[in-house]
Amino acid sequence: MSISLNWISAGNLKALKEEGAKVIRGGIAVFYHEDHVYAVDNRCPHLGFPLHMGSLCDGILTCHWHHARFDVCSGGTLDPWADDVPSYEVRVDSGEVFVNPVSRSAKGAAKYKHKLKEGLEQNIGIVIAKAVVGLIEAGVPEQEIARIGIEFGTTHGTGWNAGLTILTAMAQSVDKLDKNGKILALYQGLVHVARGSSGRGTRHLLSALPSADVPFERLTEWYRSCLEVRDTPGAEKVLITTILKGIETKRLSEMMLIAATDHFYLDGGMYSISTAKHLKRWSGRRHRKRSGF
Ligand code: FES
Repeated sequence: MSISLNWISAGNLKALKEEGAKVIRGGIAVFYHEDHVYAVDNRCPHLGFPLHMGSLCDGILTCHWHHARFDVCSGGTLDPWADDVPSYEVRVDSGEVFVNPVSRSAKGAAKYKHKLKEGLEQNIGIVIAKAVVGLIEAGVPEQEIARIGIEFGTTHGTGWNAGLTILTAMAQSVDKLDKNGKILALYQGLVHVARGSSGRGTRHLLSALPSADVPFERLTEWYRSCLEVRDTPGAEKVLITTILKGIETKRLSEMMLIAATDHFYLDGGMYSISTAKHLKRWSGRRHRKRSGF
């Protein structure tokens, strides 16, 4: 496979293996994990913490600031409030690692329109804000951006609400504002539309991870971990990714039942089987102590 002149060298593979992670030109973090090399944008998409300082375990990169988790391969997040991180293609040639500086993520207005709809559906301010900035930067007219919010609010809410009034007022005023003013005005209108429609009308599923390349066994582990800590959005994302992967119903059911039976009371308490085993051992020790054994 030929490597274009534009690809960035990430140095020697052996050295990367020893270092575990490094940052290269373009602010790209490169990781050696489970005999593979991965590359993602080093800025956490949530609030910018350097991801090369995060932890990498079982294919999940965890940011150390607010603990957002990312599939290190695709950059997809299990925490929708953090957004996906751009990921990059990697090649190893004669023991040297190269990274394609053009991210694998979709770009341009279409991507940001999709993100704006996702932010409205899930009522996530940071995703809406980033989408508005991206759309304005991409030259999308303000009225077109406002229309996405109006269509969403009138389709998925329970009638006209304060958010739609705010957005309409903002859309009427944007012509008189500078670029930052336009972004703030649209954001305020859109975020109120999201709040006014959230939890009413349509239930919106989260999107799958960007890539379905993650093996089924790994998705099963991630699903179990999400349930263990009662992480509903993470579990939903992993489940949708698994379904879209075309896994047959029997294996899918097994995955869900294994995770569900980790707990005696899945929905009503903290009493997992591991807790139960721990308590059993602990009470056995107390009993032996009391009875002098
Ligand atoms: S900056 Fe990474 S999770 Fe907040």
